[in-house]
Amino acid sequence: MNHIDFSKAIRYIGCDDHSIDLFENQYKVPKGISYNSYLILDEKVAIMDTVDRRASQDWLEKLRQGLDGRKPDYLVVHHLEPDHAYHIQLAAELYPEMTIVASAKAVAMMPQFFTMDFTGRVMAVQEGDKLSLGQHELTFVMAPMVHWPEVMVSYESSEKVLFSADGFGKFGALDIDDNWDDEARRYYFNIVGKYGGPVQTLLKKAAGLDIRTICPLHGPVLTGDLSHYIGKYQTWSSYQPEEDGVVIAYASIHGNTEKAAHKLAEILRQKGAEQVRLFDLSRSDKSEVVENAFRYSKLVLAASSYDGGVFPPMEHLLTTLVSKMYQNRRVALVENGSWGPTAGRVMKSYVDKLKKIDLCPTMVTIWSTLKDKDLSALEQLAEELLA
Ligand code: FEO
Repeated sequence: MNHIDFSKAIRYIGCDDHSIDLFENQYKVPKGISYNSYLILDEKVAIMDTVDRRASQDWLEKLRQGLDGRKPDYLVVHHLEPDHAYHIQLAAELYPEMTIVASAKAVAMMPQFFTMDFTGRVMAVQEGDKLSLGQHELTFVMAPMVHWPEVMVSYESSEKVLFSADGFGKFGALDIDDNWDDEARRYYFNIVGKYGGPVQTLLKKAAGLDIRTICPLHGPVLTGDLSHYIGKYQTWSSYQPEEDGVVIAYASIHGNTEKAAHKLAEILRQKGAEQVRLFDLSRSDKSEVVENAFRYSKLVLAASSYDGGVFPPMEHLLTTLVSKMYQNRRVALVENGSWGPTAGRVMKSYVDKLKKIDLCPTMVTIWSTLKDKDLSALEQLAEELLA
């Protein structure tokens, strides 16, 4: 999967991090993460991004070895988020002749992160600007909001390499073997998912380039047939479901809503649904639930009522779905209550904030425990979901 030795002149000097528990202090990364950084060695030498503070020693040693006594002429900053940009000031201090190349927006934001006066040390570049390193030439392409406003990507024309910033990144260190799609999807929807429009704009720009290799800031260097990865990004960024299937996300206090959720799954399977995925919101990794909500075409939200509203694990998911611009899916609601159920009303108030949702007309209300008389309503809901 990983092809970091794809070029003699473009060297990987990034770092794996297996000791981190939560990326961005919120996403579980049981297989770690990589902070990617590259060197282009030509008549001029360019460092392509730095790494997170957690990998300082490792990166500085790889940089020293990669430079092999040479001095860098440029540090190209594609993204100013600290997991990539932490070492800008340190590198600038180590190499006083080095120029920092970044978008104008990144240059304007640099004083927010660093104490150094960068006057005379920066080159602000715009869309289409070029930087020749000798045989290698970089063309800069602005990519605002993929993931921050200052983001740009660059295209190296002699080897047809796209340095794609956070785009095409994934969770997982490079020394583990896993499925690109799953951890790239979880990364995409939780980190970049809100910005489908800007990603579409970047994909349109990239379509005009002859790209042989993609060098992202996380995850493996992508080579070979790139259409698989670009196709996934087309699907994800246009908010199209990747697969037909039903995700049932339930928030259950005493297990009764859980029983109803499992019964609905059984009915759906009996009616021919091939993909039915159940998630207990009290225990599941929320980022995985969000990933799967976007992956499949249908979503059932089943929750207990609580404090005149909805049980908090469900409210947490709904807040995230609104924030991540969840849309273009069929949604169904199941509520439970022991007196005056309120969960359905609150869940619907969130769903009403989402675009292009086909809400099933039936909302099933369970009074405390699932009973035989409730089965016809679950049957009806299953019919509506699969229609
Ligand atoms: Fe990997 Fe938006 O930083």
